[in-house]
Amino acid sequence: MLEELPDAVSIYEVSPRDGLQNEATPIPIEGKREIVLALVRAGLKRIELTSFVSPRWVPQLADAEELSRSLPAPEGVVFSALCPNAKGLERARAVGLREVAVFLSASETHNRKNTNKTIEQSFEAFSEVVPGALAAGMRVRAYVSTVWGCPYEGSVAPAVSLEITERLLELGCYQVSLGDTIGVGTPLQTRELLKGFLAEIPATKLALHFHDTRGTALANALIGLELGLRDFDASVAGVGGCPYAPGAAGNLATEDLVYMLEGMGVKTGVNLDLLIEAGRVAERVIGHRLPGKVHQAGPRVLRTESMRP
Ligand code: HMG
Ligand code: MG
Repeated sequence: MLEELPDAVSIYEVSPRDGLQNEATPIPIEGKREIVLALVRAGLKRIELTSFVSPRWVPQLADAEELSRSLPAPEGVVFSALCPNAKGLERARAVGLREVAVFLSASETHNRKNTNKTIEQSFEAFSEVVPGALAAGMRVRAYVSTVWGCPYEGSVAPAVSLEITERLLELGCYQVSLGDTIGVGTPLQTRELLKGFLAEIPATKLALHFHDTRGTALANALIGLELGLRDFDASVAGVGGCPYAPGAAGNLATEDLVYMLEGMGVKTGVNLDLLIEAGRVAERVIGHRLPGKVHQAGPRVLRTESMRP
């Protein structure tokens, strides 16, 4: 196990979207900008800024246009946003976004609760959104939610998630992020599930999106790393959740992921001290304690040298 670690991985930061969509108190736009700019300073290159979804469904992100317009992506950084339908794409294009992400669930009930659509109706919408975005020169990412389990239906057949993933790739999405939306996955389940995916799909086409509801996100990410996955979604200080998945806690904390990977010599391109600073900015702006472990513990203070006599 873990004999062949990669030199580097790519982290896709979801806190401005997955994190802030779940906050009960509205976050002022200036606070959102502060968080995003702190994340950029820490070295994150792929950041999900917001969602172009219905403001009635997710009022927390109703300022998507204003935020995107006030914060053009700095050189070398890609900002992305969730986009469920043609209306979302039109909005994302109007603000000049270069990447969008479509999303659906592997379980019908969660898909309906989250998007008011059956899985087939989601694909109808994506058959318009994905080619439209590609024709406009944008890249399209995709999410499949509830792959490890659904809050309404319980276990989800891996074959269903696999088929959905293959259809999304055929449509032209460059990568599909597999979501443990409610953080129920355990490492052996993750290994079995991913082996099934990797028998059909190259690892470069897949990303992992773990919520840390039960403390297994980092262990599951390590299994993904071991099996050859190189793309991990994370959220600074572990902020986040899905408003339409009861009990969904925050994502795997970016600091925890970076701490583990850099500690094993796997480069993330992220400066841990500046990332911890970004987590502090997020906590101040959001106004309550955030759950990330490294966020709470801080960087390792004792260095090996200082322990020598
Ligand atoms: P609907 O109500 O069925 O929409 O919602 P509709 O097409 O019937 O339209 C109704 C109204 O909404 C119309 O306005 C539309 O114009 C408007 P009206 O004529 O009544 O004034 N509308 C929109 N407005 C702005 N932007 C749009 C848009 N679309 C329609 N894009 C819809 C269907 C999909 C829009 C809705 O269900 C929705 O917005 N859902 C999003 C829910 C969401 O964002 N959930 C959280 C993200 S998913 C997640 O967290 C999981 C993930 O992290 C991965 C994981 O953890 O597994 C990604
Ligand atoms: Mg999520």
